[in-house]
Amino acid sequence: MAQKCAARANLRVKFEILSVIKVLLVKIGVIFKKGLKMWSRDSWRKFNILQQPSYPDEVLLKKAEDKLKTMPPLVFAGEARNLKQDLAKVCNGEAFLLQGGDCAESFLNFNAVNIRDMFKVMLQMAIVLTFAGRCPVVKVGRVAGQFAKPRSSDYEEQGGVKLPSYRGDIINGFEFSAEARVPDPNRMIEAYYQSASTMNLLRAFSRGGLADLHEVNRWNLGFIKKPELDAKYGELARQLSQTLAFMGACGINASNTPALSETKVYTSHEALLLPYEEALTREDSLTGDWYDCSAHMLWIGERTRGVNDAHVHFLSGVHNPLGVKIGPNATAQEVVALANALNPKNEAGRLNVIIRMGADKIGERLPKILREVKREGLNIVYSIDPMHGNTIKAANGYKTREFDKILAEVQSFFEIHRAEGTHAGGVHLEMTGQDVTECTGGSFKLNEDDLAHRYETQCDPRLNADQSLELAFLIAEFLKKI
Ligand code: PEP
Ligand code: CO
Repeated sequence: MAQKCAARANLRVKFEILSVIKVLLVKIGVIFKKGLKMWSRDSWRKFNILQQPSYPDEVLLKKAEDKLKTMPPLVFAGEARNLKQDLAKVCNGEAFLLQGGDCAESFLNFNAVNIRDMFKVMLQMAIVLTFAGRCPVVKVGRVAGQFAKPRSSDYEEQGGVKLPSYRGDIINGFEFSAEARVPDPNRMIEAYYQSASTMNLLRAFSRGGLADLHEVNRWNLGFIKKPELDAKYGELARQLSQTLAFMGACGINASNTPALSETKVYTSHEALLLPYEEALTREDSLTGDWYDCSAHMLWIGERTRGVNDAHVHFLSGVHNPLGVKIGPNATAQEVVALANALNPKNEAGRLNVIIRMGADKIGERLPKILREVKREGLNIVYSIDPMHGNTIKAANGYKTREFDKILAEVQSFFEIHRAEGTHAGGVHLEMTGQDVTECTGGSFKLNEDDLAHRYETQCDPRLNADQSLELAFLIAEFLKKI
């Protein structure tokens, strides 16, 4: 009997020890997980990461990162907060987001004329949307930092030669040679200086007179090539001038209403190259919050939006407005999980979901997402990127996009939102102020044979100035129906 009692007591002790060990293990697990989730500028380094270059020289990389950490910020935290407020209006259906620019900025095509022409076409589009669409426009450029590109393949083959893919000028060279394709960390420094200089010009254009609405007619000189479009824009500019003259007579002018002579253009890019983003992330002295000061808004691409991966983790810790691209295969649950990770406080204006499903798929796939997000009560700014789901290869080998497909996806986006009772918040475009021939269709009816004429992009095909403006007029019609 005594033996039995002793054995039972022994068993109980063992059981209790095991329970204590179990509790300890669970606690260690929780601490470990929390540790992993704890955010600091460099905590992304512990996470799975996609689409990064492998630099051959770690010492050179560290040197470039250290140099970048000493550089002044490109934007200020207060400006990023202003954009968040502007985007909150978009979220509530009181404004429209126009985001656009190059697929990839390049070192080679960097000059004042290209930046000015892009700025002008953005302003023209904004005027069309504001005046014809009766909706304030929040302007965000894919500019001053849009250098790093995700690639569908790590290698590129030409004439039997296989080399690492081009990943954007901030990483390696576009030229098809083994030497150019080696990732070079010093390119981050060059990209920073180019971004600083672009930013400076954009600020000057915004406030130095170029954006004055009284000059709206002059923005056009020699700019639009298509006569019908020119006439349409000319008529709008004439009406705007009359309105301004009337307002002037009532005492509303540029000296008492700065919005008539100045504008705000924010910057954005895909936050793909995390060593660069980390180095430009700074603590705001006013709030103590962290901001990625490489741009006002940062987005995560379709290929790097894994909710447990490094890019989502990194951006979850900065306070800028964020975007995330959503392709045709995303589930509603994934979008909800991304919203919870990137916008845990459910702030209006913090998160922009950028839909890029393709004209043929959006009708079937977007409604499910809108319904689930609505059911969860999440605040999201929706915009449509009608470029990346509509890329095709022409018979002559050029990567291109058809204007009609682009328009069709934008139209579906508006119709779906109307049917679901949600806001079609904006558009996200790859466009240029130049007269390139990269997308087919539009009022010039460019066909595949025209592509070779001026195909200048280093990455994806962009709408040219005429096509961009034409699209703005068509979008204004959709806006009027909201
Ligand atoms: C891009 O915006 O240039 C891009 C690569 O987009 P996505 O991540 O949607 O493919
Ligand atoms: Co692109």
